Amino acid sequence: MSALAEAEEDADTPARDHWSLLSQGAEARVYGLDLCGLPAVAKHRHRKAYRIAALDGRLRRDRTLAEARALARCRARGVPAPAVLGVDAARCVLYLERVPGPTARAFVDANRADPARLGAVLAALGGAVARLHAAGLVHGDLTTSNAVCRAADDVVLIDFGLAGASAQVEDRAVDLYVLERALASTHRDADGLVAAVLAAYAAAAADAKQVLRRLDAVRARGRKRECFG
Ligand SMILES: Nc1ncnc2c1ncn2[C@@H]1O[C@H](COP(=O)(O)OP(=O)(O)OP(=O)(O)O)[C@@H](O)[C@H]1O
Ligand SMILES: [Mg+2]
Repeated sequence: MSALAEAEEDADTPARDHWSLLSQGAEARVYGLDLCGLPAVAKHRHRKAYRIAALDGRLRRDRTLAEARALARCRARGVPAPAVLGVDAARCVLYLERVPGPTARAFVDANRADPARLGAVLAALGGAVARLHAAGLVHGDLTTSNAVCRAADDVVLIDFGLAGASAQVEDRAVDLYVLERALASTHRDADGLVAAVLAAYAAAAADAKQVLRRLDAVRARGRKRECFG
């Protein structure tokens, strides 16, 4: 069965013939479409049969609205993130500006042999996270799949379903820890990648010293958990 046909079986799907499936994630399907001539995506958080229906509906709607809210705040505060073009809360669909380019994951893997491009994208990623934190937000799921490269030095953050308002040093450090772990599990020889992202963050974030000191503590807690369960 084609992905679109499968999506159409889902009774609450908003999918249309001229939409093309770009990504099928655990929580959401992302479609490419044209909205009044603008390249757009529709992110549909589909039903999860294993959840109780009422809870599932509320969770999907809450995450859709949380993502729209966080993206709106990003745009207002100069954080590189896609513009929100529309929200269909009843169907749990978010219409966003489509950011052209590969994910940072693909970009990093394609440019491992090119130190200048690799350095540029990691610096842009660290800088984007610093701007996000300066805007009073934490992302909640920073990975190289949740960033799109418009150019080597122009990285746009996406996937704000778990984002929230926080200016806490602890929350910022956990955000960086999640990113560090994601780099290590997605890319080979990730130590240099992590160091480059953190250096860019340190150069751009006002309270970077405190956050990076806390990151050490978060790492130590993580190691303890690994040892003792
Ligand atoms: N605004 C956008 N512009 C271009 N591509 C996008 C955009 N939003 C999402 N994508 C593509 O779709 C993929 C999945 O999107 P996203 O990370 O937002 O959802 P997800 O991880 O499947 O869902 P969830 O938020 O439930 O974790 C991205 O990795 C990216 O390739
Ligand atoms: Mg994602």
